Amino acid sequence: MSKHTVEELLAAAAARLAPSSSSARLDAELLLAQAMRFSRPTLLARPAQPVDDAAAAGFEALVARRSAGEPIAYLVGHKAFWTLEIAVDPRVLVPRPETELLVELAIERIPAGEATRVLDLGTGSGAVAIAIASERPDADVVGVDASAGALTVARDNAASVEDVGVEFREGSWWGPVAGERFDVIVSNPPYLAADDPHLADPALACEPRAALVAGPGGLEAIAEIAAGALAHLAPGGWLIVEHGFEQGEAVRKLFADAGLREVETRRDLAGLERATLGRAAG
Ligand SMILES: C[S@@+](CC[C@H](N)C(=O)[O-])C[C@H]1O[C@@H](n2cnc3c(N)ncnc32)[C@H](O)[C@@H]1O
Repeated sequence: MSKHTVEELLAAAAARLAPSSSSARLDAELLLAQAMRFSRPTLLARPAQPVDDAAAAGFEALVARRSAGEPIAYLVGHKAFWTLEIAVDPRVLVPRPETELLVELAIERIPAGEATRVLDLGTGSGAVAIAIASERPDADVVGVDASAGALTVARDNAASVEDVGVEFREGSWWGPVAGERFDVIVSNPPYLAADDPHLADPALACEPRAALVAGPGGLEAIAEIAAGALAHLAPGGWLIVEHGFEQGEAVRKLFADAGLREVETRRDLAGLERATLGRAAG
């Protein structure tokens, strides 16, 4: 039997993925590149190349998983975040583009060349902590997560970026940093309610539930983080937390009730309230 070409397989897979993905052709290209161990540009430069049986079978398996809703990042094993390629697997949340706002807000508050202490609560893949450390090499960055599996991914990610050192610690929120203070504390904690209808989305169903769901109301993790902030912020230090676009008002109240000052919410590139900041007295 004659082998199919790259273009034939791409066209067939894109048609098959179209009902479940808004980026069907791109998905097909990324998955075939993965199966053939090519970069995407190399793949696209060879539309008439026959695909061998092993690569075609591997591609078929990846397309089946994608059409069942698995995130493309898990299938190819990495996701672009900030200036980095972050390795991901189902032990960690796939870093989202809107979370780059946390990195931006943090590095604005970390003077270059100073020995600042930075904490990332719920570090997951380490994306936020590693991005900050890559921009501010003099900062001492600590990442905390309750998931041992996530921390394995985070440590591997940090080790793969040259000249970036992040210390990762396992435990719940403030537990691993008892008695310590930081100049900047960032967090993208779980912030969905347990009955949030978005959890039925097949892509979200593939991600760790502990990375998504905070509790019955959705604000439990942010409330715990806000309540402990003053005991862990250096004078004048900042807490910066990502949240759901409808949670801004509630999060501002949690920050104010916790004694934080200069509380304000910033919008993401889609214009949605996405991150709230507050500061310890100087
Ligand atoms: C929304 S994910 C964020 C991951 C990563 N920071 C990012 O932005 O891509 C939330 C993370 O919080 C962690 N987490 C959940 N409950 C926690 C707890 N009680 N203490 C520490 N981390 C927790 C989860 O394991 C998950 O990695």
